[in-house]
Amino acid sequence: MADSWRDLDTPVPLVDLGRLERNLREMADIAGAYGVRQRPHTKTHKTREIARRQVDLGAHGITVAKVGEAEAMVDAGFEDILIAYPVIGARKYDRILPLLERARIRFAVDSAAGARAAADHFARHGRTVEVLIEHDGGANRSGVQNAEEAVALANLVDGLPGLTVAGIMSYANAYKTDDAAEQAEIGRTEGRAAVAVAEAVRAAGVAADTVSVGSTPTARHVVTVPGVTELRSGVYVFHDVKQVSLGVVGLDRCALTVLATVVSHPRPDRYVVDAGIKSLAGEDYGWGTHGIIVERPDLRITLATEEHGIITLPPDAEDPRWSIGDLVRIVPDHACGCANMHDALVVVDGEDVVDTWRVIGRGRVR
Ligand SMILES: Cc1ncc(COP(=O)(O)O)c(C=O)c1O
Repeated sequence: MADSWRDLDTPVPLVDLGRLERNLREMADIAGAYGVRQRPHTKTHKTREIARRQVDLGAHGITVAKVGEAEAMVDAGFEDILIAYPVIGARKYDRILPLLERARIRFAVDSAAGARAAADHFARHGRTVEVLIEHDGGANRSGVQNAEEAVALANLVDGLPGLTVAGIMSYANAYKTDDAAEQAEIGRTEGRAAVAVAEAVRAAGVAADTVSVGSTPTARHVVTVPGVTELRSGVYVFHDVKQVSLGVVGLDRCALTVLATVVSHPRPDRYVVDAGIKSLAGEDYGWGTHGIIVERPDLRITLATEEHGIITLPPDAEDPRWSIGDLVRIVPDHACGCANMHDALVVVDGEDVVDTWRVIGRGRVR
């Protein structure tokens, strides 16, 4: 193992251990202050080591998006997993069956067809699986649209063998505004809506103990809503350009960077590094960047192709005077996509390389 990250071959993802641990503790404190339990979304890091730290800090379980991620996390020793996604298809139900022998597995349902198919399957195998009724908390993707639909679906599930309602889950989209007051309102609105839906389901006679909500930008707001029981924030472990642009944290809180080498300086206003979208992930949320350069936070990856990260200097920018072969660190636009691009994350403490963590959920998209 290299002693210093400066000796590593590039491109390579680096995790700053001190920043990671601060981010982990802060979110545990946010949830703990209101007695809300954490079930962090591990799709951000997909590693055993970070999930273990989350559980050690009090998370009562973890969240994943896919059955494949659940398989990886059960193999890594985790025993309480929510697949926060509508799980559809007999092949997936067949893969959940053996996991039930080793862990508590819950998943989301938002349709009668999905509920019936899952219920038939699990009942045929003599199993009953806990599900959360997914309510669309404002993300405008999956989820029942109102309390009436939630009650109808909960009643249906309640009458089926093979499934049982454990509660409600929802997800809001706080990524559309950098206004702190609007983000706070989005978080509180999501929480209130999910609690109201859970109360309607309970009033209809179906137990719905869990009210699972939240994301990184909404976390500190959604936990203040009485009745919320579970917080699923994910990207907070690393933070990223998106969180910085939203005003959630400063750049000094970002724990994941990609170390890259300057490989070309073809004209005075352009440098090219060896980290493109296959290292940084392909998102650009409209802020005109695929990443911010740590050594020069005024400079960005302005364009990324597969293996080229292109830094175009703004007209008034001071030339960084990098030489070919120089190293730069890049804070990615979206940490979750970035981590998923790599087999392993190299853990650093200051200059020192202290560990390597395998991205065990990588590629587990089914
Ligand atoms: C269903 C669900 N829950 C929780 C999260 C975590 O949100 P964040 O990464 O903003 O903390 C996500 C993120 O995509 C999600 O899709």
